[in-house]
Amino acid sequence: MKNIPWDYPAALNDAWLYRKAHVLSRKIEAFRLVNGRGDGLDGLTIDYYAGSFLTTFRQESHFAAQAGLHRALKELHPKLPGNALPNFYWFKNFSGQGFENLNRNFEVKTIREHGLRFEVRLGESRHTGLFLDQRENRHLAKKLSRDKKVLNLFCYTGGFSVAALKGGAKEIHSVDLSKNYLKWLARNLDLNELPQERSYLHSMDAIAYLKSRRAEGRRFDVVFLDPPTFSRSKGGNFSTEKNLAGLVQSCSGLLGEGGKFFLSLNTRKLSAERFLDVLKLALKGTSLKTGKLLPLPLDFRLAPEELKNPPLKACLIS
Ligand SMILES: C[S@@+](CC[C@H](N)C(=O)[O-])C[C@H]1O[C@@H](n2cnc3c(N)ncnc32)[C@H](O)[C@@H]1O
Repeated sequence: MKNIPWDYPAALNDAWLYRKAHVLSRKIEAFRLVNGRGDGLDGLTIDYYAGSFLTTFRQESHFAAQAGLHRALKELHPKLPGNALPNFYWFKNFSGQGFENLNRNFEVKTIREHGLRFEVRLGESRHTGLFLDQRENRHLAKKLSRDKKVLNLFCYTGGFSVAALKGGAKEIHSVDLSKNYLKWLARNLDLNELPQERSYLHSMDAIAYLKSRRAEGRRFDVVFLDPPTFSRSKGGNFSTEKNLAGLVQSCSGLLGEGGKFFLSLNTRKLSAERFLDVLKLALKGTSLKTGKLLPLPLDFRLAPEELKNPPLKACLIS
């Protein structure tokens, strides 16, 4: 143990015991096993995708102890659900140095979640195709969408779109700048044996899409809005922090009578309190009200000092 500054076997065992009942009772195949400070391992996150470990080092001390961590994960693996032989993928993301992919190989697999299936690509890039912190919100999307006209802005690989269609959406419009992500979304629809004809893919800037639909007077029953914190597009740069109120107003203008919209934002720059204040102000003069912040899934365990400012802020507006 001389070279290992962290007691990984004990910390990983604790992390698993904290999640075990939740994961096994709900048959969750992909979950966060270690969430940094919340698990007493500041600077380390480990996601588990049905037998494959995806580790991100945010601190040098963990990276330096990679061999010890690898051993401890191999020892833990037989206790976890998933394939017989573990796979390991490693990333570095030290402050100010950007993301570094340390892998030579990658794998593609299917993750099942609440009766849905998603293609994930592990080791290829930092983006696996499935945001694990949105698991319960995808479930919510399924419940909200029966017989509804749904819009999914910044849709990525279509987590909310698949859930909405599976929940019986009449039609779903998915908007993203990336053609590759929209192709991935289409593969996710196929995986779930969902009809492509109720799904409309729009490869374009979400702001431009909003403008054109407002000009046409289009209305949706449910809107999902999950923007990145910063985006560059032909239409100009946008920072969610600065442009959040405008974005919320544009979306609320697209809602039909009795419509709802789901909003989420992944940033620690905007406190939860400020996030809710911005929404309240943006919705002033409309009949829409912001619900409480939706909780993060249990596996995204936070340290007590992080509870007031969870990284993912999400709420339902209706
Ligand atoms: C946070 S991800 C959305 C995740 C998705 N809601 C989910 O739960 O899987 C942000 C997405 O926004 C897309 N994006 C970034 N800027 C955009 C823009 N200006 N217009 C449309 N899409 C954009 C990115 O390609 C990326 O897929």
